[in-house]
Amino acid sequence: MKITDNARTILEKRYLKKENGVPVETPEEMFRRVAAAVAGAERIFNPALTEAQVEEYADRFYRLMTSWDFLPNSPTLMNAGRELGQLSACFVLPVDDSMDAIFTAVKDAALIHKSGGGTGFSFSRLRPKNSPVRSTGGVASGPVSFMKVFNAATEAIKQGGTRRGANMGILRVDHPDILEFISCKENNNELTNFNISVGLTREFMDALARDDYYELKFEGRVYQRLKAQEVFAEIVNHAWANGEPGIIFLDRLNEDNPTPELGEIEATNPCGEQPLLPYEACNLGSVNLANMVRDGGVNWDKLADTVRLAVRFLDNVIEINEFPLEKISVMVRGNRKIGLGVMGWADMLFQLRLPYDSEEAVELGRKVMAFIQKEAHGASRDLAGERGSFPNIDKSIYRGQQLRNATCTTIAPTGTISMIAGTTSGIEPVFALAYTKNVLDGASLVEVNPVFQAYVEENFPPEQARSIFNRIAAGVRVSEIEYIPPEMRRVFVTALEISPEWHIRMQAAFQASTDNAVSKTVNFPSEATREDVRRAYELAYQLGCKGVTVYRSGSREKEVLITGAKN
Ligand code: CDP
Repeated sequence: MKITDNARTILEKRYLKKENGVPVETPEEMFRRVAAAVAGAERIFNPALTEAQVEEYADRFYRLMTSWDFLPNSPTLMNAGRELGQLSACFVLPVDDSMDAIFTAVKDAALIHKSGGGTGFSFSRLRPKNSPVRSTGGVASGPVSFMKVFNAATEAIKQGGTRRGANMGILRVDHPDILEFISCKENNNELTNFNISVGLTREFMDALARDDYYELKFEGRVYQRLKAQEVFAEIVNHAWANGEPGIIFLDRLNEDNPTPELGEIEATNPCGEQPLLPYEACNLGSVNLANMVRDGGVNWDKLADTVRLAVRFLDNVIEINEFPLEKISVMVRGNRKIGLGVMGWADMLFQLRLPYDSEEAVELGRKVMAFIQKEAHGASRDLAGERGSFPNIDKSIYRGQQLRNATCTTIAPTGTISMIAGTTSGIEPVFALAYTKNVLDGASLVEVNPVFQAYVEENFPPEQARSIFNRIAAGVRVSEIEYIPPEMRRVFVTALEISPEWHIRMQAAFQASTDNAVSKTVNFPSEATREDVRRAYELAYQLGCKGVTVYRSGSREKEVLITGAKN
Protein backbone atom coordinates (compact mmCIF):
# COMPACT_ATOMS: atom_id res chain seq x y z
CA MET A 1 0.00 0.00 0.00
CA LYS A 2 1.38 3.40 -1.02
CA ILE A 3 0.46 6.03 1.51
CA THR A 4 1.42 9.69 1.86
CA ASP A 5 2.75 11.12 5.12
CA ASN A 6 -0.31 13.33 5.31
CA ALA A 7 -2.65 10.37 5.06
CA ARG A 8 -0.74 8.46 7.70
CA THR A 9 -0.94 11.40 10.09
CA ILE A 10 -4.70 11.80 9.57
CA LEU A 11 -5.31 8.09 10.08
CA GLU A 12 -3.21 7.98 13.22
CA LYS A 13 -4.96 10.99 14.71
CA ARG A 14 -8.55 10.01 14.18
CA TYR A 15 -9.16 6.70 12.42
CA LEU A 16 -6.98 3.97 13.83
CA LYS A 17 -8.18 1.92 16.75
CA LYS A 18 -6.49 3.18 19.91
CA GLU A 19 -5.88 2.01 23.41
CA ASN A 20 -4.84 4.59 26.03
CA GLY A 21 -4.43 7.10 23.23
CA VAL A 22 -1.96 4.94 21.30
CA PRO A 23 -2.86 3.34 17.93
CA VAL A 24 -3.09 -0.44 18.18
CA GLU A 25 -3.53 -1.01 14.46
CA THR A 26 -1.61 0.10 11.37
CA PRO A 27 -3.34 1.73 8.38
CA GLU A 28 -3.09 -1.64 6.57
CA GLU A 29 -4.78 -3.35 9.51
CA MET A 30 -7.47 -0.69 9.54
CA PHE A 31 -8.29 -1.35 5.88
CA ARG A 32 -8.25 -5.13 6.56
CA ARG A 33 -10.67 -4.57 9.43
CA VAL A 34 -13.03 -2.53 7.25
CA ALA A 35 -12.78 -4.92 4.28
CA ALA A 36 -13.47 -7.97 6.46
CA ALA A 37 -16.47 -6.34 8.15
CA VAL A 38 -17.97 -5.25 4.81
CA ALA A 39 -17.34 -8.67 3.26
CA GLY A 40 -19.10 -10.19 6.27
CA ALA A 41 -22.38 -8.96 4.77
CA GLU A 42 -21.88 -11.40 1.88
CA ARG A 43 -22.27 -14.25 4.36
CA ILE A 44 -25.52 -12.77 5.69
CA PHE A 45 -26.94 -12.57 2.14
CA ASN A 46 -25.70 -15.97 1.14
CA PRO A 47 -25.06 -18.38 4.03
CA ALA A 48 -23.91 -21.03 1.54
CA LEU A 49 -20.68 -19.09 0.81
CA THR A 50 -17.49 -20.73 2.00
CA GLU A 51 -14.97 -18.92 4.19
CA ALA A 52 -12.66 -18.70 1.19
CA GLN A 53 -15.33 -17.03 -0.91
CA VAL A 54 -16.02 -14.44 1.79
CA GLU A 55 -12.30 -13.81 2.08
CA GLU A 56 -12.11 -13.31 -1.66
CA TYR A 57 -14.63 -10.46 -1.27
CA ALA A 58 -12.61 -9.06 1.62
CA ASP A 59 -9.53 -9.05 -0.62
CA ARG A 60 -11.37 -7.28 -3.41
CA PHE A 61 -12.67 -4.61 -1.00
CA TYR A 62 -9.20 -4.23 0.52
CA ARG A 63 -7.65 -3.65 -2.89
CA LEU A 64 -10.48 -1.28 -3.88
CA MET A 65 -9.60 0.96 -0.93
CA THR A 66 -5.84 0.62 -0.68
CA SER A 67 -5.37 1.35 -4.38
CA TRP A 68 -7.16 4.62 -3.45
CA ASP A 69 -9.63 3.94 -6.27
CA PHE A 70 -12.51 4.25 -3.82
CA LEU A 71 -13.06 5.17 -0.18
CA PRO A 72 -16.21 5.01 1.94
CA ASN A 73 -17.15 7.97 4.15
CA SER A 74 -15.17 8.47 7.35
CA PRO A 75 -17.51 6.76 9.83
CA THR A 76 -17.19 3.50 7.87
CA LEU A 77 -13.40 3.65 8.08
CA MET A 78 -13.50 4.55 11.75
CA ASN A 79 -16.19 2.17 12.99
CA ALA A 80 -16.56 -0.88 10.72
CA GLY A 81 -15.66 -4.07 12.57
CA ARG A 82 -15.63 -2.23 15.87
CA GLU A 83 -17.96 -1.90 18.80
CA LEU A 84 -19.62 1.36 17.71
CA GLY A 85 -20.45 -0.07 14.28
CA GLN A 86 -22.17 3.13 13.05
CA LEU A 87 -21.07 3.64 9.46
CA SER A 88 -23.12 6.50 7.98
CA ALA A 89 -22.12 10.15 7.57
CA CYS A 90 -25.58 11.61 6.99
CA PHE A 91 -28.77 11.75 9.03
CA VAL A 92 -31.94 13.79 9.10
CA LEU A 93 -34.05 13.99 12.26
CA PRO A 94 -37.55 15.40 12.60
CA VAL A 95 -38.19 18.36 14.91
CA ASP A 96 -41.87 18.50 15.75
CA ASP A 97 -43.59 21.28 17.59
CA SER A 98 -43.50 20.03 21.19
CA MET A 99 -40.96 20.15 24.01
CA ASP A 100 -40.82 16.41 24.04
CA ALA A 101 -40.10 16.17 20.31
CA ILE A 102 -37.51 18.95 20.39
CA PHE A 103 -35.50 17.48 23.23
CA THR A 104 -35.77 13.97 21.84
CA ALA A 105 -34.17 15.31 18.67
CA VAL A 106 -31.40 16.96 20.73
CA LYS A 107 -30.64 13.64 22.38
CA ASP A 108 -30.79 11.64 19.15
CA ALA A 109 -28.45 14.10 17.49
CA ALA A 110 -25.97 13.73 20.35
CA LEU A 111 -25.91 9.95 19.91
CA ILE A 112 -25.34 10.34 16.17
CA HIS A 113 -22.53 12.87 16.62
CA LYS A 114 -20.76 10.55 19.01
CA SER A 115 -20.39 8.06 16.17
CA GLY A 116 -19.09 10.59 13.63
CA GLY A 117 -22.38 11.20 11.81
CA GLY A 118 -23.77 14.61 10.92
CA THR A 119 -27.38 15.66 11.41
CA GLY A 120 -29.76 17.83 9.42
CA PHE A 121 -33.03 19.31 10.68
CA SER A 122 -35.90 21.29 9.33
CA PHE A 123 -37.10 23.74 11.96
CA SER A 124 -40.09 24.75 9.87
CA ARG A 125 -42.58 22.83 12.01
CA LEU A 126 -41.81 24.89 15.10
CA ARG A 127 -44.37 27.57 15.82
CA PRO A 128 -43.16 31.14 15.31
CA LYS A 129 -41.66 33.22 18.07
CA ASN A 130 -44.24 34.75 20.43
CA SER A 131 -46.99 32.31 19.46
CA PRO A 132 -49.07 31.30 22.47
CA VAL A 133 -48.17 28.14 24.36
CA ARG A 134 -51.45 26.66 25.59
CA SER A 135 -50.17 24.54 28.49
CA THR A 136 -48.26 27.34 30.18
CA GLY A 137 -50.00 30.46 28.98
CA GLY A 138 -46.58 31.76 27.91
CA VAL A 139 -45.20 32.41 24.45
CA ALA A 140 -43.04 30.25 22.18
CA SER A 141 -39.37 31.10 21.68
CA GLY A 142 -39.30 30.18 17.98
CA PRO A 143 -37.01 28.11 15.74
CA VAL A 144 -33.85 30.20 16.09
CA SER A 145 -33.78 30.06 19.86
CA PHE A 146 -34.22 26.28 19.78
CA MET A 147 -31.38 25.99 17.27
CA LYS A 148 -29.18 27.49 19.96
CA VAL A 149 -30.09 24.59 22.24
CA PHE A 150 -29.02 22.09 19.58
CA ASN A 151 -25.86 24.08 19.05
CA ALA A 152 -24.99 24.11 22.73
CA ALA A 153 -25.57 20.35 23.01
CA THR A 154 -23.24 19.75 20.07
CA GLU A 155 -20.64 22.02 21.63
CA ALA A 156 -20.81 20.18 24.95
CA ILE A 157 -20.17 16.75 23.45
CA LYS A 158 -17.39 17.92 21.14
CA GLN A 159 -14.75 16.18 23.19
CA GLY A 160 -14.76 12.44 23.23
CA GLY A 161 -16.40 11.86 19.88
CA THR A 162 -14.52 10.79 16.78
CA ARG A 163 -15.08 14.12 15.10
CA ARG A 164 -16.72 17.41 15.79
CA GLY A 165 -20.48 17.19 15.35
CA ALA A 166 -21.96 19.04 12.41
CA ASN A 167 -25.54 20.18 11.89
CA MET A 168 -27.65 21.61 9.11
CA GLY A 169 -30.55 23.86 10.04
CA ILE A 170 -33.20 24.56 7.44
CA LEU A 171 -36.14 26.93 7.54
CA ARG A 172 -38.72 27.34 4.81
CA VAL A 173 -38.75 30.78 3.24
CA ASP A 174 -42.46 31.13 4.11
CA HIS A 175 -41.98 30.52 7.85
CA PRO A 176 -42.94 33.67 9.81
CA ASP A 177 -39.50 33.77 11.50
CA ILE A 178 -37.57 33.68 8.24
CA LEU A 179 -35.93 37.12 8.60
CA GLU A 180 -34.55 36.26 12.03
CA PHE A 181 -33.29 32.96 10.61
CA ILE A 182 -31.53 34.61 7.66
CA SER A 183 -29.51 36.80 10.01
CA CYS A 184 -28.94 34.24 12.78
CA LYS A 185 -25.33 33.60 11.77
CA GLU A 186 -24.48 37.24 11.11
CA ASN A 187 -22.17 37.03 14.07
CA ASN A 188 -19.48 34.47 13.27
CA ASN A 189 -19.41 33.29 16.87
CA GLU A 190 -23.06 32.22 16.93
CA LEU A 191 -24.37 28.79 16.01
CA THR A 192 -20.85 27.63 15.17
CA ASN A 193 -21.89 23.98 14.94
CA PHE A 194 -24.51 24.73 12.28
CA ASN A 195 -24.60 25.34 8.58
CA ILE A 196 -27.86 27.03 7.70
CA SER A 197 -29.91 27.04 4.51
CA VAL A 198 -33.13 28.70 3.51
CA GLY A 199 -35.60 26.30 1.89
CA LEU A 200 -36.90 28.14 -1.18
CA THR A 201 -40.27 27.08 -2.56
CA ARG A 202 -41.49 27.25 -6.15
CA GLU A 203 -44.16 29.72 -4.99
CA PHE A 204 -41.40 31.98 -3.71
CA MET A 205 -39.30 31.64 -6.87
CA ASP A 206 -42.34 32.54 -8.97
CA ALA A 207 -43.11 35.57 -6.82
CA LEU A 208 -39.47 36.57 -7.19
CA ALA A 209 -39.67 36.35 -10.98
CA ARG A 210 -42.89 38.44 -11.01
CA ASP A 211 -41.49 40.92 -8.48
CA ASP A 212 -44.48 40.08 -6.32
CA TYR A 213 -45.37 39.54 -2.67
CA TYR A 214 -45.58 36.12 -1.01
CA GLU A 215 -47.13 34.98 2.25
CA LEU A 216 -45.45 34.01 5.51
CA LYS A 217 -47.68 31.43 7.12
CA PHE A 218 -47.87 28.76 9.76
CA GLU A 219 -50.50 26.05 10.01
CA GLY A 220 -52.76 27.77 7.53
CA ARG A 221 -52.65 31.17 9.17
CA VAL A 222 -51.10 34.02 7.18
CA TYR A 223 -48.84 36.15 9.36
CA GLN A 224 -47.46 38.64 6.90
CA ARG A 225 -46.90 39.39 3.22
CA LEU A 226 -43.38 40.24 2.12
CA LYS A 227 -41.86 41.21 -1.17
CA ALA A 228 -39.98 38.17 -2.50
CA GLN A 229 -37.23 40.38 -3.88
CA GLU A 230 -36.65 42.00 -0.51
CA VAL A 231 -36.29 38.68 1.27
CA PHE A 232 -34.05 37.39 -1.49
CA ALA A 233 -31.88 40.49 -1.15
CA GLU A 234 -31.53 39.75 2.58
CA ILE A 235 -30.39 36.20 1.84
CA VAL A 236 -27.91 37.48 -0.73
CA ASN A 237 -26.61 40.18 1.64
CA HIS A 238 -25.89 37.72 4.36
CA ALA A 239 -24.37 35.10 2.08
CA TRP A 240 -22.19 37.79 0.55
CA ALA A 241 -21.11 38.94 4.01
CA ASN A 242 -20.00 35.54 5.35
CA GLY A 243 -21.28 32.64 3.26
CA GLU A 244 -24.44 31.93 5.29
CA PRO A 245 -27.23 31.11 4.70
CA GLY A 246 -27.01 28.78 1.73
CA ILE A 247 -30.13 28.03 -0.26
CA ILE A 248 -31.86 24.81 -1.24
CA PHE A 249 -34.70 24.43 -3.72
CA LEU A 250 -37.27 22.36 -1.82
CA ASP A 251 -39.58 21.60 -4.73
CA ARG A 252 -36.68 20.35 -6.78
CA LEU A 253 -35.57 18.04 -3.96
CA ASN A 254 -39.07 16.64 -3.84
CA GLU A 255 -39.33 16.16 -7.59
CA ASP A 256 -36.50 13.67 -7.17
CA ASN A 257 -37.81 12.17 -3.94
CA PRO A 258 -37.84 8.45 -4.79
CA THR A 259 -40.39 7.59 -2.06
CA PRO A 260 -42.99 10.42 -1.98
CA GLU A 261 -45.55 8.10 -0.35
CA LEU A 262 -43.27 7.83 2.69
CA GLY A 263 -43.04 11.57 3.20
CA GLU A 264 -41.83 14.90 1.96
CA ILE A 265 -38.17 15.89 1.96
CA GLU A 266 -37.67 18.88 4.24
CA ALA A 267 -33.97 18.74 5.04
CA THR A 268 -30.50 17.63 4.02
CA ASN A 269 -27.36 16.50 5.85
CA PRO A 270 -24.83 19.13 7.05
CA CYS A 271 -23.02 19.76 3.79
CA GLY A 272 -26.22 19.74 1.69
CA GLU A 273 -25.51 16.88 -0.69
CA GLN A 274 -27.90 14.38 0.85
CA PRO A 275 -31.62 15.16 1.05
CA LEU A 276 -33.31 12.66 3.39
CA LEU A 277 -36.65 11.89 4.96
CA PRO A 278 -36.92 12.16 8.75
CA TYR A 279 -35.02 9.27 10.41
CA GLU A 280 -33.25 8.34 7.21
CA ALA A 281 -29.48 7.93 7.05
CA CYS A 282 -27.17 7.46 4.12
CA ASN A 283 -23.71 6.02 3.77
CA LEU A 284 -21.53 7.63 1.14
CA GLY A 285 -18.49 6.59 -0.82
CA SER A 286 -16.39 8.19 -3.53
CA VAL A 287 -14.54 6.96 -6.58
CA ASN A 288 -11.16 8.59 -7.09
CA LEU A 289 -11.24 9.97 -10.64
CA ALA A 290 -7.53 10.81 -10.52
CA ASN A 291 -6.96 7.04 -10.77
CA MET A 292 -9.27 6.62 -13.78
CA VAL A 293 -7.01 8.06 -16.48
CA ARG A 294 -5.14 6.02 -19.07
CA ASP A 295 -3.19 7.21 -22.13
CA GLY A 296 -4.50 10.75 -21.84
CA GLY A 297 -8.16 9.68 -21.72
CA VAL A 298 -10.75 8.37 -19.26
CA ASN A 299 -10.29 4.69 -18.45
CA TRP A 300 -13.98 3.82 -18.83
CA ASP A 301 -13.56 0.08 -18.23
CA LYS A 302 -11.78 0.62 -14.95
CA LEU A 303 -14.34 3.25 -13.96
CA ALA A 304 -17.22 0.84 -14.64
CA ASP A 305 -15.60 -1.97 -12.62
CA THR A 306 -14.81 0.37 -9.75
CA VAL A 307 -18.34 1.80 -9.62
CA ARG A 308 -19.93 -1.66 -9.65
CA LEU A 309 -17.77 -3.01 -6.85
CA ALA A 310 -18.30 0.23 -4.88
CA VAL A 311 -22.08 -0.15 -5.10
CA ARG A 312 -21.81 -3.68 -3.74
CA PHE A 313 -19.55 -2.37 -0.96
CA LEU A 314 -22.03 0.37 0.00
CA ASP A 315 -25.01 -1.99 -0.07
CA ASN A 316 -23.09 -4.33 2.21
CA VAL A 317 -22.42 -1.44 4.58
CA ILE A 318 -26.17 -1.02 5.11
CA GLU A 319 -26.39 -4.63 6.19
CA ILE A 320 -23.75 -4.41 8.92
CA ASN A 321 -24.54 -0.84 9.99
CA GLU A 322 -25.57 -0.38 13.61
CA PHE A 323 -27.71 2.65 14.30
CA PRO A 324 -28.28 4.37 17.64
CA LEU A 325 -32.07 4.34 17.04
CA GLU A 326 -34.43 1.58 15.97
CA LYS A 327 -36.50 4.06 13.92
CA ILE A 328 -33.44 4.90 11.82
CA SER A 329 -32.64 1.26 11.31
CA VAL A 330 -36.15 0.63 9.98
CA MET A 331 -36.09 3.59 7.57
CA VAL A 332 -32.61 2.80 6.26
CA ARG A 333 -33.33 -0.86 5.69
CA GLY A 334 -36.59 0.05 3.97
CA ASN A 335 -35.07 2.40 1.40
CA ARG A 336 -31.44 1.30 1.34
CA LYS A 337 -30.18 4.66 0.06
CA ILE A 338 -26.51 4.83 -0.82
CA GLY A 339 -24.55 7.79 -2.16
CA LEU A 340 -21.72 6.99 -4.52
CA GLY A 341 -19.85 10.04 -5.79
CA VAL A 342 -16.43 11.17 -6.88
CA MET A 343 -13.27 12.84 -5.70
CA GLY A 344 -10.18 13.85 -7.67
CA TRP A 345 -12.11 15.54 -10.47
CA ALA A 346 -9.69 18.50 -10.62
CA ASP A 347 -6.75 16.07 -10.68
CA MET A 348 -8.36 14.17 -13.52
CA LEU A 349 -8.74 17.39 -15.51
CA PHE A 350 -5.09 18.27 -14.83
CA GLN A 351 -4.05 14.89 -16.20
CA LEU A 352 -6.26 15.30 -19.25
CA ARG A 353 -4.90 18.84 -19.71
CA LEU A 354 -8.39 20.36 -19.68
CA PRO A 355 -8.97 23.70 -17.93
CA TYR A 356 -11.73 23.40 -15.29
CA ASP A 357 -13.36 26.54 -16.67
CA SER A 358 -13.87 25.26 -20.20
CA GLU A 359 -16.75 23.91 -22.27
CA GLU A 360 -14.83 20.63 -22.74
CA ALA A 361 -14.40 20.10 -19.00
CA VAL A 362 -18.08 20.77 -18.27
CA GLU A 363 -19.11 18.39 -21.03
CA LEU A 364 -16.73 15.72 -19.78
CA GLY A 365 -18.09 16.18 -16.25
CA ARG A 366 -21.58 15.62 -17.56
CA LYS A 367 -20.45 12.51 -19.40
CA VAL A 368 -18.44 11.03 -16.53
CA MET A 369 -21.30 11.43 -14.07
CA ALA A 370 -23.89 10.08 -16.52
CA PHE A 371 -21.66 7.03 -16.95
CA ILE A 372 -21.25 6.56 -13.20
CA GLN A 373 -25.00 6.92 -12.71
CA LYS A 374 -25.77 4.35 -15.40
CA GLU A 375 -23.25 1.85 -14.00
CA ALA A 376 -24.37 2.42 -10.41
CA HIS A 377 -28.01 1.84 -11.31
CA GLY A 378 -26.98 -1.21 -13.34
CA ALA A 379 -25.11 -2.62 -10.35
CA SER A 380 -28.03 -1.86 -8.04
CA ARG A 381 -30.40 -3.68 -10.43
CA ASP A 382 -28.08 -6.68 -10.52
CA LEU A 383 -27.92 -6.70 -6.73
CA ALA A 384 -31.73 -6.61 -6.63
CA GLY A 385 -31.69 -9.79 -8.72
CA GLU A 386 -29.36 -11.38 -6.21
CA ARG A 387 -30.66 -9.92 -2.94
CA GLY A 388 -34.08 -8.47 -3.69
CA SER A 389 -35.25 -4.89 -4.27
CA PHE A 390 -35.36 -2.38 -1.43
CA PRO A 391 -38.42 -3.27 0.68
CA ASN A 392 -40.28 0.01 0.04
CA ILE A 393 -39.96 -0.24 -3.74
CA ASP A 394 -43.73 -0.50 -4.18
CA LYS A 395 -44.10 2.84 -2.43
CA SER A 396 -41.50 4.40 -4.71
CA ILE A 397 -41.15 5.83 -8.19
CA TYR A 398 -39.48 2.51 -9.12
CA ARG A 399 -42.67 0.46 -8.51
CA GLY A 400 -42.73 -2.54 -10.82
CA GLN A 401 -38.96 -2.44 -11.42
CA GLN A 402 -36.04 -4.08 -9.70
CA LEU A 403 -33.62 -1.89 -7.80
CA ARG A 404 -31.68 -2.54 -4.61
CA ASN A 405 -31.28 1.08 -3.52
CA ALA A 406 -33.76 3.98 -3.58
CA THR A 407 -30.87 6.30 -4.48
CA CYS A 408 -27.40 5.39 -5.72
CA THR A 409 -25.46 8.61 -6.27
CA THR A 410 -24.44 11.67 -4.21
CA ILE A 411 -21.45 13.98 -4.57
CA ALA A 412 -19.94 14.51 -1.13
CA PRO A 413 -17.31 17.09 -0.19
CA THR A 414 -14.81 14.28 0.64
CA GLY A 415 -13.10 16.73 2.97
CA THR A 416 -11.04 14.10 4.77
CA ILE A 417 -11.15 11.02 2.59
CA SER A 418 -9.69 12.96 -0.36
CA MET A 419 -6.72 13.88 1.83
CA ILE A 420 -6.31 10.23 2.77
CA ALA A 421 -6.45 9.26 -0.92
CA GLY A 422 -4.02 12.08 -1.74
CA THR A 423 -6.26 13.77 -4.28
CA THR A 424 -8.44 16.83 -4.77
CA SER A 425 -11.80 17.00 -3.01
CA GLY A 426 -15.12 16.13 -4.64
CA ILE A 427 -15.65 18.07 -7.86
CA GLU A 428 -13.91 21.16 -6.50
CA PRO A 429 -11.06 22.86 -8.32
CA VAL A 430 -7.81 23.04 -6.34
CA PHE A 431 -7.44 25.92 -3.95
CA ALA A 432 -3.68 26.16 -4.26
CA LEU A 433 -1.17 24.18 -6.33
CA ALA A 434 1.45 24.42 -3.64
CA TYR A 435 1.55 25.61 -0.07
CA THR A 436 4.04 25.80 2.74
CA LYS A 437 3.49 23.49 5.62
CA ASN A 438 5.15 23.86 9.01
CA VAL A 439 6.62 20.63 10.25
CA LEU A 440 7.57 19.66 13.79
CA ASP A 441 11.09 21.01 14.25
CA GLY A 442 10.18 24.50 13.09
CA ALA A 443 11.21 23.67 9.52
CA SER A 444 8.81 24.17 6.64
CA LEU A 445 8.00 21.98 3.72
CA VAL A 446 6.50 22.86 0.35
CA GLU A 447 3.58 20.58 -0.54
CA VAL A 448 2.82 20.47 -4.27
CA ASN A 449 -0.17 19.05 -6.12
CA PRO A 450 1.19 15.74 -7.48
CA VAL A 451 -0.04 16.18 -11.07
CA PHE A 452 1.37 19.69 -11.27
CA GLN A 453 4.60 18.51 -9.71
CA ALA A 454 4.98 15.74 -12.29
CA TYR A 455 4.32 18.17 -15.13
CA VAL A 456 6.89 20.68 -13.88
CA GLU A 457 9.54 18.05 -13.10
CA GLU A 458 9.17 16.54 -16.56
CA ASN A 459 9.42 19.86 -18.34
CA PHE A 460 11.86 22.00 -16.37
CA PRO A 461 15.37 21.46 -14.98
CA PRO A 462 15.46 20.74 -11.20
CA GLU A 463 16.63 24.21 -10.23
CA GLN A 464 13.85 25.91 -12.13
CA ALA A 465 11.26 23.40 -10.91
CA ARG A 466 12.20 24.22 -7.32
CA SER A 467 11.89 27.89 -7.98
CA ILE A 468 8.44 27.39 -9.54
CA PHE A 469 7.22 25.46 -6.50
CA ASN A 470 8.56 28.07 -4.12
CA ARG A 471 6.99 30.93 -6.04
CA ILE A 472 3.61 29.16 -6.18
CA ALA A 473 3.78 28.38 -2.47
CA ALA A 474 4.47 32.08 -1.86
CA GLY A 475 1.22 33.00 -3.59
CA VAL A 476 2.24 33.53 -7.23
CA ARG A 477 -0.24 32.04 -9.70
CA VAL A 478 0.75 29.73 -12.54
CA SER A 479 -0.87 32.23 -14.89
CA GLU A 480 1.81 34.72 -13.80
CA ILE A 481 4.78 32.49 -14.61
CA GLU A 482 5.79 33.57 -18.11
CA TYR A 483 7.93 30.58 -19.04
CA ILE A 484 5.12 28.09 -18.51
CA PRO A 485 3.42 27.79 -21.93
CA PRO A 486 0.05 29.60 -22.16
CA GLU A 487 -2.02 26.44 -22.68
CA MET A 488 -0.55 24.87 -19.52
CA ARG A 489 -1.14 28.07 -17.57
CA ARG A 490 -4.80 27.65 -18.51
CA VAL A 491 -4.85 23.99 -17.38
CA PHE A 492 -3.47 24.57 -13.87
CA VAL A 493 -6.17 27.02 -12.88
CA THR A 494 -7.21 27.42 -9.20
CA ALA A 495 -10.56 28.02 -7.47
CA LEU A 496 -10.37 31.79 -7.19
CA GLU A 497 -9.33 32.26 -10.83
CA ILE A 498 -12.42 30.39 -11.96
CA SER A 499 -15.49 32.59 -12.35
CA PRO A 500 -18.58 31.72 -10.26
CA GLU A 501 -20.42 30.97 -13.49
CA TRP A 502 -18.06 28.10 -14.29
CA HIS A 503 -18.31 26.77 -10.74
CA ILE A 504 -22.07 26.62 -11.12
CA ARG A 505 -22.01 25.16 -14.61
CA MET A 506 -19.78 22.36 -13.34
CA GLN A 507 -22.08 21.73 -10.37
CA ALA A 508 -25.07 21.59 -12.72
CA ALA A 509 -23.29 19.19 -15.11
CA PHE A 510 -22.72 16.72 -12.26
CA GLN A 511 -26.17 17.31 -10.77
CA ALA A 512 -27.80 16.30 -14.06
CA SER A 513 -26.95 12.65 -13.38
CA THR A 514 -26.93 12.52 -9.58
CA ASP A 515 -29.87 10.99 -7.68
CA ASN A 516 -29.22 13.06 -4.58
CA ALA A 517 -27.38 16.37 -4.61
CA VAL A 518 -23.93 17.82 -5.14
CA SER A 519 -21.72 19.40 -2.52
CA LYS A 520 -20.00 22.43 -4.02
CA THR A 521 -18.78 25.77 -2.80
CA VAL A 522 -18.98 28.56 -5.35
CA ASN A 523 -15.96 30.74 -4.65
CA PHE A 524 -15.98 34.47 -5.16
CA PRO A 525 -13.03 36.85 -5.00
CA SER A 526 -13.19 39.27 -2.06
CA GLU A 527 -14.13 42.17 -4.35
CA ALA A 528 -17.26 40.38 -5.64
CA THR A 529 -20.49 42.36 -5.24
CA ARG A 530 -23.88 41.37 -3.88
CA GLU A 531 -25.16 41.53 -7.42
CA ASP A 532 -22.59 38.86 -8.41
CA VAL A 533 -23.92 36.59 -5.68
CA ARG A 534 -27.54 37.20 -6.70
CA ARG A 535 -26.75 36.36 -10.32
CA ALA A 536 -25.00 33.14 -9.26
CA TYR A 537 -28.07 32.06 -7.25
CA GLU A 538 -30.33 32.69 -10.22
CA LEU A 539 -28.05 30.82 -12.59
CA ALA A 540 -27.95 27.83 -10.25
CA TYR A 541 -31.75 27.76 -10.23
CA GLN A 542 -31.93 28.04 -14.03
CA LEU A 543 -29.39 25.27 -14.56
CA GLY A 544 -31.15 22.75 -12.33
CA CYS A 545 -28.93 22.75 -9.21
CA LYS A 546 -30.62 21.61 -5.99
CA GLY A 547 -28.93 24.20 -3.81
CA VAL A 548 -26.02 26.60 -3.65
CA THR A 549 -23.34 27.50 -1.15
CA VAL A 550 -21.22 30.54 -1.82
CA TYR A 551 -18.10 31.79 -0.16
CA ARG A 552 -16.42 35.12 -0.75
CA SER A 553 -12.70 35.05 -0.10
CA GLY A 554 -11.68 36.46 3.26
CA SER A 555 -15.24 37.07 4.44
CA ARG A 556 -14.95 34.97 7.57
CA GLU A 557 -12.40 35.95 10.14
CA LYS A 558 -11.08 32.49 10.75
CA GLU A 559 -10.80 31.13 7.26
CA VAL A 560 -10.54 27.38 6.97
CA LEU A 561 -8.43 26.55 3.98
CA ILE A 562 -9.71 23.09 3.40
CA THR A 563 -11.48 23.11 0.09
CA GLY A 564 -15.04 21.90 0.17
CA ALA A 565 -15.19 21.14 3.88
CA LYS A 566 -17.07 23.89 5.60
CA ASN A 567 -16.94 22.41 9.03
O1 CDP B 1 -14.37 12.94 3.78
P1 CDP B 1 -15.35 12.48 4.79
O2 CDP B 1 -15.90 11.12 4.54
O3 CDP B 1 -14.80 12.56 6.18
O4 CDP B 1 -16.62 13.48 4.82
P2 CDP B 1 -17.16 14.59 3.79
O5 CDP B 1 -17.35 13.97 2.44
O6 CDP B 1 -16.33 15.81 3.87
O7 CDP B 1 -18.58 14.91 4.38
C1 CDP B 1 -19.68 14.06 4.15
C2 CDP B 1 -20.71 14.26 5.20
O8 CDP B 1 -20.22 13.81 6.44
C3 CDP B 1 -21.11 15.68 5.46
O9 CDP B 1 -22.03 16.20 4.56
C4 CDP B 1 -21.71 15.54 6.83
O10 CDP B 1 -23.01 14.97 6.74
C5 CDP B 1 -20.78 14.56 7.48
N1 CDP B 1 -19.70 15.24 8.26
C6 CDP B 1 -19.90 15.49 9.61
O11 CDP B 1 -20.95 15.17 10.12
N2 CDP B 1 -18.95 16.13 10.36
C7 CDP B 1 -17.79 16.51 9.81
N3 CDP B 1 -16.88 17.14 10.56
C8 CDP B 1 -17.56 16.27 8.44
C9 CDP B 1 -18.53 15.62 7.70
